[in-house]
Amino acid sequence: MIATKVIAFANQKGGVGKTTTAVNLAACLAESGQRLLLVDLDPQANATSALGVEKQPGRSAYAALLEEGQLADQIVPTPVERLDLIPSELDLAGAEVEIARAEQYLHCFQKALAPIRAAARYDYIFIDCPPALGILTCNALTAAQALIIPVQCEYLALEGLSMITGMIAQLSAGGANRELKLDGIIMTMFDVRTRLAQQVVEEVRKHFGTSVYETLIPRTVRLSEAPSFGQPIILYDPRGTGAEAFRALAEEFFRRQAPPAEEMQNAELRMQKEDNGKQASEGRANRPDKPAAPVEQPQANNGPVPVEVVEKAAAEPSASGPVPAPPTGGQAGS
Ligand SMILES: Nc1ncnc2c1ncn2[C@@H]1O[C@H](COP(=O)(O)OP(=O)(O)O)[C@@H](O)[C@H]1O
Ligand SMILES: [Mg+2]
Repeated sequence: MIATKVIAFANQKGGVGKTTTAVNLAACLAESGQRLLLVDLDPQANATSALGVEKQPGRSAYAALLEEGQLADQIVPTPVERLDLIPSELDLAGAEVEIARAEQYLHCFQKALAPIRAAARYDYIFIDCPPALGILTCNALTAAQALIIPVQCEYLALEGLSMITGMIAQLSAGGANRELKLDGIIMTMFDVRTRLAQQVVEEVRKHFGTSVYETLIPRTVRLSEAPSFGQPIILYDPRGTGAEAFRALAEEFFRRQAPPAEEMQNAELRMQKEDNGKQASEGRANRPDKPAAPVEQPQANNGPVPVEVVEKAAAEPSASGPVPAPPTGGQAGS
């Protein structure tokens, strides 16, 4: 069975392109045959409206977070084939307060998501987080195996990045989620006409190296218009530069998910061994050639980044901003 990978899209800054990235990357991956579930975990419900789904009272992850219903019951289809959504609505804001009272308050979403993950109906589950490192985002990061940080190409882009990367280390050290890796940083709203945008990308690359996606998402009018039509860019403007960029991003994303070359080779060797064993036991020296299993060559050094690297980057002086204290049950609960 293929395992479902859970990826959170987070950055405590608002308006940096989290929702745009989560929605459009999800749509492009679905277009190329992957099965996706996007969970809108932001009470502002921008991902919900960007996919043309109406906000309705009671239609969100709220009840499931409080163990008062099944998360799977909230799944709705979207205009994109193979892309489903768990919508959001304003009430989800209240969940923060209520979850804080739960004993294992960091694990509420992980628990709610478990049956959907186990069913392996999806290749990827994306979580669109609210613009804060509050309880909902912490819950998303506890449930996720990977984190994608969208960063806007603007002055002071690095500011505060250490807070979110620092959270990976904290969740790992605290034992809440030792699996979590930084999948990557995606530079958004890149303006080709300005030198500043290029400088910002260089600066972020200097600190985070290959964690930064090669693909840059350009600032385009079409990308900003698409949400008001309730459509991802591949439906709203399928041939434009925005759609082109997100398709390239989806390809790069997919390459980065490939297992390391060594693992592929080991799998290949195992298959050959099994094959030889079979041939010997069947007493056949020759048989028609079977096509060799394709061995993909994943790009070097662009897989998930181990926590130590993230911590190092986070500790760099110009990735400024204090690392928040780990949330504690007592504090959050009172
Ligand atoms: N590449 C882009 N080009 C033009 N507008 C964009 C682009 N990415 C995001 N926007 C717009 O910027 C605003 C903030 O983006 P959004 O994805 O909602 O950020 P976040 O989820 O981080 O708050 C939205 O109005 C969105 O439509
Ligand atoms: Mg958003």
